[in-house]
Amino acid sequence: KLYSIVDKDTCIACGACGMAAPELYNYDDEGLAYFLPDDNQGNTPIAEELELDAEDAYEGCPTGSIKLANSNFNGSIPEED
Ligand code: F3S
Repeated sequence: KLYSIVDKDTCIACGACGMAAPELYNYDDEGLAYFLPDDNQGNTPIAEELELDAEDAYEGCPTGSIKLANSNFNGSIPEED
C-alpha cells in the first residue's frame, strides 16, 4: 500500500498536486495543500487506481512537499534523509 502526506511548512501553494491528483490533494484557505482522504494524517491508503496520480503529484511538486511511503504517517512529516 501507498500512503501520502503534505508538508505544509514547505508547500508554496503552487497548485500542481491538485492538478495531478485532484482526488488526493486539496487546498486550505491559504492555498496550502493537504492529503484529502484523511485531512493530511497520512493514514488512509491511496486507492490503487490513484497511485499513479500520487506519483505524478510527488514528482511534480517543486518543493518536495508531497511525501509518499509504504507505511502510514500518523500525521507526522518524516525527516529528510
Ligand atoms: Fe504545495 Fe507542492 Fe502541492 S508546493 S500546492 S504541495 S505541488
